[in-house]
Amino acid sequence: MLETVQVLLKEMGVFSPKSKKEVEEFRLRYLGKNGKINELFDTFKNVPNESKKEFGQAINTLKQNAQKKVEAFKGRFEAPKSSEKIDSTRPVNLNSLGSRHPISLIRNEIVSAFSRVGFSVSEGPEIEDDWHNFSALNLPEEHPARDMQDTFFIQSNPNILLRTHTSSVQVRYMNDNKPPIRTLSPGRVYRNEAISARAHCIFHQVEGLYIDENVSFADLKQCLLYFAKEMFGDKTKIRLRPSYFPFTEPSAEVDVSCNICNSKGCNVCKNTGYLEILGCGMVDPNVLENCGIDSKKYTGFAFGMGIERIAMLKYGVKDLRLFFENDVRFLKQFDKSV
Ligand code: PHE
Repeated sequence: MLETVQVLLKEMGVFSPKSKKEVEEFRLRYLGKNGKINELFDTFKNVPNESKKEFGQAINTLKQNAQKKVEAFKGRFEAPKSSEKIDSTRPVNLNSLGSRHPISLIRNEIVSAFSRVGFSVSEGPEIEDDWHNFSALNLPEEHPARDMQDTFFIQSNPNILLRTHTSSVQVRYMNDNKPPIRTLSPGRVYRNEAISARAHCIFHQVEGLYIDENVSFADLKQCLLYFAKEMFGDKTKIRLRPSYFPFTEPSAEVDVSCNICNSKGCNVCKNTGYLEILGCGMVDPNVLENCGIDSKKYTGFAFGMGIERIAMLKYGVKDLRLFFENDVRFLKQFDKSV
């Protein structure tokens, strides 16, 4: 009799139903009123007393096994209960992928505006020597204008410093390339400034350089007007104010019309109707000569702007430090995919 139990157990082991109907047949075959298990219980009275315990346990195991199988297989063919139904219209729970940093977005926008008029990107080291950052740019040692950019020097070697502007890349570019030159140098720069809502010791610049025969101040103005319109909208006007940079002569500072108040005056433009965005000028002939370019044959213009400043104006960000804190709640606002 124990053998019968063994055979039935084996039979159950290989059972693999293909439909709900087969599961029901299985249930009836083993657990039904006239099923195999009841049949075995019927023979129980004929079992000698000393074997009753062992036989009883075997049938119980068989019964439990059958019940477990029926439960498991039933689930396989049954539709999920209403509370578990899958809602196929629910939006997919996408993993958060992150987004571009606002500084990268603005950098890309600036680069793409200038690349449409023929500028290409050049890059250089952030750790520079004195020559490329200052001397070549008409800022010899002891020149008072060096104080305009408070510099981080390497203590053991005052000749090595963290670049204060990406004009250093332009020096390298002029050394390595012949005119015509139309290059754009985006990158990180460093100045020893107290950190506040308007200044940081690390920030980002894009500087541009255009050198060819007969390049005039009018070309500079037109190029920057084009850029201002691309960046801030078609109606944008620019205003040039005389300024001073050691590497350009003449030099100017450029303001764009405030598109928050339409130049009527507001607290962003401090009631002036204009916002300063960059410095520029005609490259000083000394700089061209320092970089091996014939200043009798060639002229050029240069300009430089802070990316943070443009981003603050474009996005209405009031505190520059937000760009460096990487608070995802701040960064998420620039994610175009949400
Ligand atoms: N290098 C200047 C700065 O960092 C910006 C500038 C570039 C001004 C080119 C004029 C011409 O302040």
